[in-house]
Amino acid sequence: MSMLKAAHVRFQYEYENEAPQIVLRDIDLTIEAGSFVALLGHNGSGKSTLAKHFNAILLPSGGQVFVEDMDTAQEENTYPIRRLVGMVLQNPDNQLVSTIVEEDVAFGPENLGVPPAEIRQRVDDALRAVGMYDYRTHSPHKLSGGQKQRVAIAGILAMQPSCIVLDEPTAMLDPQGRREVLETICRLNREQGMTVVLITHYMEEAALADRVVVMEDGLVKMDDTPQKVFANEQALRQMGLDVPQPTALCAALRARGIDLPPDILTAEDCAQALWERLQAVQKERKA
Ligand SMILES: Nc1ncnc2c1ncn2[C@@H]1O[C@H](COP(=O)(O)OP(=O)(O)OP(=O)(O)O)[C@@H](O)[C@H]1O
Ligand SMILES: [Mg+2]
Repeated sequence: MSMLKAAHVRFQYEYENEAPQIVLRDIDLTIEAGSFVALLGHNGSGKSTLAKHFNAILLPSGGQVFVEDMDTAQEENTYPIRRLVGMVLQNPDNQLVSTIVEEDVAFGPENLGVPPAEIRQRVDDALRAVGMYDYRTHSPHKLSGGQKQRVAIAGILAMQPSCIVLDEPTAMLDPQGRREVLETICRLNREQGMTVVLITHYMEEAALADRVVVMEDGLVKMDDTPQKVFANEQALRQMGLDVPQPTALCAALRARGIDLPPDILTAEDCAQALWERLQAVQKERKA
């Protein structure tokens, strides 16, 4: 089943006394329920603009966007769409509204008119899902960046969405915070079947997704598995994008004649491949 679908989507920002700026040109993209999609692209390529179409914050200037089978342009769909698609943004401080963690997480379901007993249950479940249950009575302001962002994610989960769109959720976090948030996102996708769209500038994060979509200048330029997308190092660099470091290292060694697989994404796989290569070389020398 498709969770999100963009069909020939065009979008332009209108300015006073200036020509409108076309930001999305012709986006065709279907995101299946339960999938984990990373959305990449250089600054200004239109990622955030597209993300805002997925919960009807923006409506297309041309084409259509569907959430499940609901057209975002139809006003009566706005509210059910916003319940289905939760949005997590870059700065956790802008997303936390209360002085106590559990009150913050309860804020969303309270606004939806969920009965109090069910709110209690939802808040506890959401905090457990992000590993922040033990901090439920703490003040969000005293938490680390990664912990704050996990509380913000819990606040979205408590509204029981089917899909969560995260727009650079780790951009303001330290490496430890990034790891915590990424592990949380992966767990939600793998264990709860949550559809995840992750916008990121970190290639190592994109490598964790099932599918990587690369945007440039308002168009989808690549759309494939992380292995296949990151095999195009040159094309990505021309778009101002990197590949994961282990992938780049293996490609550089391959270019010098060292026989390594072309689909290495993680440091672990890279180390394993190098180890196997070294053992093979030693064997050849002995023979
Ligand atoms: N609210 C807005 N009003 C007018 N123009 C905007 C607005 N938001 C974005 N733009 C313009 O639209 C283009 C695409 O912006 P968008 O934020 O979608 O890109 P992005 O891929 O998310 O970039 P980044 O990686 O920097 O977050 C940019 O040229 C930007 O200046
Ligand atoms: Mg953006």
